[in-house]
Amino acid sequence: MTSPRLSVAVVGCGIGRLHIAEGYARLPDRFQVKALCDIDPARLAKLGDEFAIERRVTSFQEVLRMDDVDIVDICTPPGLHVEQALAALAAGKQVICEKPLAGSLAEVDRLIAAEREAKTRLMPIFQYRFGNGLQRAKRIVELGFAGKPYLATVETAWKRGADYYSVPWRGRWETELGGVLLTHAIHSHDILTYLMGPVASVFARTATRVNPIEVEDCAVASLALESGALASLAATLGSQKEISRLRFCFQHVTFESSLGPYSPGDDPWEIVPASPEAERRIAEALADWQFVPSRFEGLFGRYHQALAAGTEFPVSLSDARRSLELVTALFHSAETGAAVTLPIGAEHPKYRSWRPALV
Ligand SMILES: NC(=O)c1ccc[n+]([C@@H]2O[C@H](COP(=O)([O-])OP(=O)(O)OC[C@H]3O[C@@H](n4cnc5c(N)ncnc54)[C@H](O)[C@@H]3O)[C@@H](O)[C@H]2O)c1
Repeated sequence: MTSPRLSVAVVGCGIGRLHIAEGYARLPDRFQVKALCDIDPARLAKLGDEFAIERRVTSFQEVLRMDDVDIVDICTPPGLHVEQALAALAAGKQVICEKPLAGSLAEVDRLIAAEREAKTRLMPIFQYRFGNGLQRAKRIVELGFAGKPYLATVETAWKRGADYYSVPWRGRWETELGGVLLTHAIHSHDILTYLMGPVASVFARTATRVNPIEVEDCAVASLALESGALASLAATLGSQKEISRLRFCFQHVTFESSLGPYSPGDDPWEIVPASPEAERRIAEALADWQFVPSRFEGLFGRYHQALAAGTEFPVSLSDARRSLELVTALFHSAETGAAVTLPIGAEHPKYRSWRPALV
């Protein structure tokens, strides 16, 4: 049986453009973008013209009333995600939502509860997981061939300046909800837990040094993982050379990512086995390997498959919860100057908001 071609409405024409260019437009047998929505008519016209998408609306409510739209893809500023995702689920749409999925763990739990009651499902975005290098490492780890995790280092060294922060919602706690830890390094930190498993404890320091903004633009942290492995995080928006670099040392293999700041999952990944036996098992694990496309193409391809088969999405709500739990712990540690242990449940003082008390 062939899987159906699904109709999508993209809401928000910023990163929404890349969802189309790198994702839906490369998978034309599986998706068709039927409608665009943005409150800014100029952005709507530009993106609509670029991809010949005729239906353009400025009202989100109008999208929810479109009977021929299967998927609502939310690419609006962070403060709108929860309200729009809840409304789209209530309207019976499949929902895709950009990061950060929500502004607190309480809100994520609300989305998880709403999805449980809904007939449709919600997939958060973490497209950095997709790329041929990282996915091969994931296969090796999943098959148990990497062995005991020892240590990871995760660097997110990007550059942002005045132009980027001229968009009014950015740089403020109220509307961006956080800085480099929430908006940028969240991808690399998701890759850390994707490959090495959950975090048990964190100690973090943050600073705002690069731009005149409220939220942090530099951060470091020291992590203990549930497995006992250790990890260090370093993130800044003040690096003249932009890179993302991830290194994972396991008992039987060391992985080092490529340095592409926005596609660290792509080849070349260095995969260094610890012994001839480890090399043989890794070769066996990858014997039937099929190329995994990068970023949105890889993510949406797997999403389509999972939706058709009714299986788990390539990024789940619990993945989004785990990443925002780490963000909560990092912000709380930076604010209090103390180590913070996970998990973070409803009784935690930062469950309803990770924002520092004094802002
Ligand atoms: N996954 C990634 O790599 C990635 C990259 C960039 C941004 N993002 C995330 O995507 C989201 C959007 O970021 P951006 O950089 O595209 O921002 P942006 O400001 O460039 O684009 C957001 C668009 O949403 C529109 N909008 C605002 N309110 C709306 C509403 N009520 N209905 C319809 N449209 C509305 C705005 O007019 C704007 O065009 C953020 O949460 C951001 O963190 C993710």
